[in-house]
Amino acid sequence: MSEGPTPPGAGAAPEDTYTHGHHESVLRSHTWRTVANSAPHLVAHLRPGLDVLDVGCGPGTITADLADRVAPGRVVGLDRAEEVVARAAATCADRPDVEIRVGDVYALPFADGSFDVVHAHQVLQHLSDPVAALVEARRVCRPGGVVAVRDADYSAFAWAPADPDLDAWLALYRAVARSNGAEPDAGPLLCGWARAAGFAEVEVTASAWCFATPEERTWWGELWAERTTSSALAEQAEAAGLATASEREAMADAFRRWAAADDGVFVVPHTEVLARP
Ligand SMILES: C[S@@+](CC[C@H](N)C(=O)[O-])C[C@H]1O[C@@H](n2cnc3c(N)ncnc32)[C@H](O)[C@@H]1O
Repeated sequence: MSEGPTPPGAGAAPEDTYTHGHHESVLRSHTWRTVANSAPHLVAHLRPGLDVLDVGCGPGTITADLADRVAPGRVVGLDRAEEVVARAAATCADRPDVEIRVGDVYALPFADGSFDVVHAHQVLQHLSDPVAALVEARRVCRPGGVVAVRDADYSAFAWAPADPDLDAWLALYRAVARSNGAEPDAGPLLCGWARAAGFAEVEVTASAWCFATPEERTWWGELWAERTTSSALAEQAEAAGLATASEREAMADAFRRWAAADDGVFVVPHTEVLARP
């Protein structure tokens, strides 16, 4: 895959604010991710020898898994945030067939048709112009290749037992994301975004994460408790005047109550799109 000329969108990329940031509590969630639990729509389309771009790769655990599945194909993980690119580089340090680099989804530093698979997991929901990002993903995808995206729909998160402080947390997250020009309820919108980006063929599926065992509840409840009080989400909520520190502490306590409940269940629904140029 060759470095291309300056891409068409270069210089015009929106300066989006990434709602989650890369606090340790956020990375604790992202480093759990694999192809099996986060890219089920793509599994049947991966085979040895494919060239793959993982856009918005975060800490790179999905990237590394993709590399295992397409070896000896080349895999590039790209993310805008230098701090998490360093983390992804460490994740993939023992894989000579993986390149990790800083870059922007709005202006990918690759020639047209460089990759068989362009993958983005939980990235489009954070962008103010997801259609522009998909146009750029389509540009670097080879004829016959596939662009694979997956995003959650925060409005459809479901949990038991009910807790008004968790309702308040969800409302806060969605308000902060919207204040950043992002779309927290992106999942069902992916199909329309792909069509608007000019893809000829768009295949839509859905799947969910479910956290219900004591171990899963402890992990999910604690990391969200910390994210709500200590991560970029907390800072942005404070700066925008959307929640005070004591309100955020109450939300964190609600996550710990949920984690301690024997009947606690948390479901995170996702929509996936496989789009072909
Ligand atoms: C929710 S994380 C997902 C990380 C990884 N794909 C995963 O699922 O574990 C979103 C990632 O997209 C990156 N990102 C946000 N805006 C971006 C942009 N314009 N270009 C490239 N990466 C971006 C963030 O830095 C972050 O690491």
